[in-house]
Parts: sequence; C-alpha cells; structure tokens
Amino acid sequence: MILPGDSPQAIEQCARHLRGGGLVGLPTETVYGLAANAHDDAAVARIFAAKGRPADHPLIIHVAGVQALGHFAHGVPAYCTALLQAFWPGPLTVVLRRNTGMAMAASGGHGTIALRCPAHPVAQALLAKLADAAAGGACWGSQVWGLAAPSANRFGKVSPTTAQHVAEEFGEAFPVLDGGPCAVGIESTIVDCTHDRPVLLRPGVLTGQALHEACGVALAAPTQAQQPVRAPGTLASHYAPRARVRLLEEQALRDALHTLPPTAAQRVAVWSRWEDAPTAIRQCTMPDVAAEAARQLFAVLRNYDAEGVEEIWVQTVPDSPEWEGVRDRLQRAAATWTHTD
Ligand code: TXA
Ligand code: MG
Repeated sequence: MILPGDSPQAIEQCARHLRGGGLVGLPTETVYGLAANAHDDAAVARIFAAKGRPADHPLIIHVAGVQALGHFAHGVPAYCTALLQAFWPGPLTVVLRRNTGMAMAASGGHGTIALRCPAHPVAQALLAKLADAAAGGACWGSQVWGLAAPSANRFGKVSPTTAQHVAEEFGEAFPVLDGGPCAVGIESTIVDCTHDRPVLLRPGVLTGQALHEACGVALAAPTQAQQPVRAPGTLASHYAPRARVRLLEEQALRDALHTLPPTAAQRVAVWSRWEDAPTAIRQCTMPDVAAEAARQLFAVLRNYDAEGVEEIWVQTVPDSPEWEGVRDRLQRAAATWTHTD
C-alpha cells in the first residue's frame, strides 16, 4: 500500500506501525529504505526475513540528527564530527564504535554501528513523529529513536528509487511512504570512523576530495581487514538486475552494436552518452553529469528488466572522481556475469 509522504495522517499511521514492530518503506534522498525500529530485535528480524538478507550483515541506522550519536556510539574522532557538520543531514553514513546493548541485531552483532541522518523531509518527519511519541512515554521510554533501514529490495537486487519500485517488489507486505523519486539515486557514501584516519567503505556521490576538504584528513582505502562487513560471496551479485550487464568502452560498444545480427536486436538495450544505435535496439542516453546519471541509474536497469531484455550494454563512465559511485555500482552489476564468463 503506497501512502502519500506529505500527509500527516500517513506519517502518524506509519509511526504507529513502527512502534508496534512493523516495517515501513521509507523514502530517503539516496534510495528507498525498508525501515524498522532499530531497538526492537524482533522487528529487525522481519527486515532480514523480508529481504532474504543474512542476519550477520549489518544495517544502517537512520537518526534525526547528531544529538542521537552519543546514544548509539562512542569514541567519535574530531574528523568525524567535522564530516557530520559538513554533510548531515545528507548521503553520508559513518561507522563508529557501538555502545553496548544498542541496536545489537541491527548491527549484525558487530562491535561497530553505521549511522546516517537522512535529508529527505518525509524521513525527517517520520523520525520527528517517533521522537514526539518517545518523549511522551508512548513507547521505548526516553530512548532515542533509530530506524534500521537497508535499501528496500530483495538481497543482491537493484535498489529502489521510487515508491512504485518498492511496491512492485514487496506488494502489500508493508506500507510504503511515497516521497517521490530519490534526488541522489545511489546509496550513501560509507566512511569508517573507527581508525586514526577515515576509511572509505562504500563510494557514493560525495567525492573523497570533498570529504578530505571537509575534515582536513585524507581518506584511506580499506585494507583487507577493514573491507565493508559483508557476507562472503555476496559482493558479485550486489546491485544486479536480471538482465546481463556488460560494460563497454565507447568504440567497443559501437562496434558491438553495428555487428549485432538483426535477430538479436530485441534482446539488447543500451545506456550510453551518445545515441545512434541501429533503430531496432532500445537505447537511452546516459547524462554526462555524474549526479544526474546516478539519479537515473537504478531506474534504467529496472525499466530494461521490466521490458524483458536479456542484455544491458552500458558505456563505461569517465575516470574522474565524481563518477566513482556510479562506476562502483555498474562494476558490481556487471561483476555477476564476468565471474561466470
Ligand atoms: O543510502 C543508503 O545508505 C541506504 C538508504 C536506505 O539510507 N541504506 C543502505 O543500507 O544502503 P544498507 O543496510 O543496505 O547498507 C549496509 C552496508 C553494509 O553492507 C556495510 O557495508 C555497511 O552498510 N555497514 C552497516 N553497518 C555496519 C557496521 N556496523 N560496520 C561496518 N559497516 C557497516
Ligand atoms: Mg542494499
């Protein structure tokens, strides 16, 4: 059931549902999340079950602002405070040392916790409504609210960027607040703040340089031991549509298109920054601004999947830093296949 995110009644209804241990489809500026009360281990278990995600795979906890930090985590380094000042609310997730007993199941039992303050007004309205109820003693006493919310898609599949995407995947299983299409379009940048220097665990729309400038400390690439916490073997299948994704340099893509037999044209669709494929082939134009391409990426993959194409041929993206997030998602989508080729 899709509910209008700008309706106070819908926010109230979803807040009540979350307090009772239910799940809610939540718009954020990055992608839609599948939210539950982070303090309620049974509710969090429902997220893992709905997604088909392994229970030791930690979730991001969404909070109303920096005031929630001390409730969930400790040992916040100065560079992290500077990052939060610059980018919260927004598409930045920080990993910190978890306070004992806080969001245990949501953090997959790890000693760390991932926190993000979403900028989307609907997510903010829902968190504010939950905080009101907590202050009034309606539930969870004086506890600070946190919403555990991974992307609202089945494990390993493409993240949703509209309320319709969520409803298509989960039907009537839980209410979905409609906050319109996501403005960012790819998941948040994740920075591990449990070391001397910030470590980039997942690229997003914030570039390493922007993060460096904001906090004055250069980011380190993760060592083997600091790799993002992920269940083994799942990396390759992340962000994969059903169709096979092939990443091709411009010339290789043009050559492949012009030698494609007409009988195969129905099976192939293209996403490239130029548009002159043979007319029988589905093609849409990738914007040449990285932020715009990020906004469209998952919807393009989903739409082609819905049209039943077998292969999506995507032009490789420029090598510059602002494309890092899109490059990362495309490489993961293509990796499922390169591993089995
Ligand atoms: O944009 C986003 O971040 C979206 C929206 C809904 O906010 N959420 C999202 O959540 O992508 P999720 O749960 O799919 O992200 C999980 C990733 C894990 O794969 C891991 O890399 C990192 O967040 N993570 C979560 N908790 C962690 C922890 N305690 N320690 C280290 N990494 C953690
Ligand atoms: Mg996800």
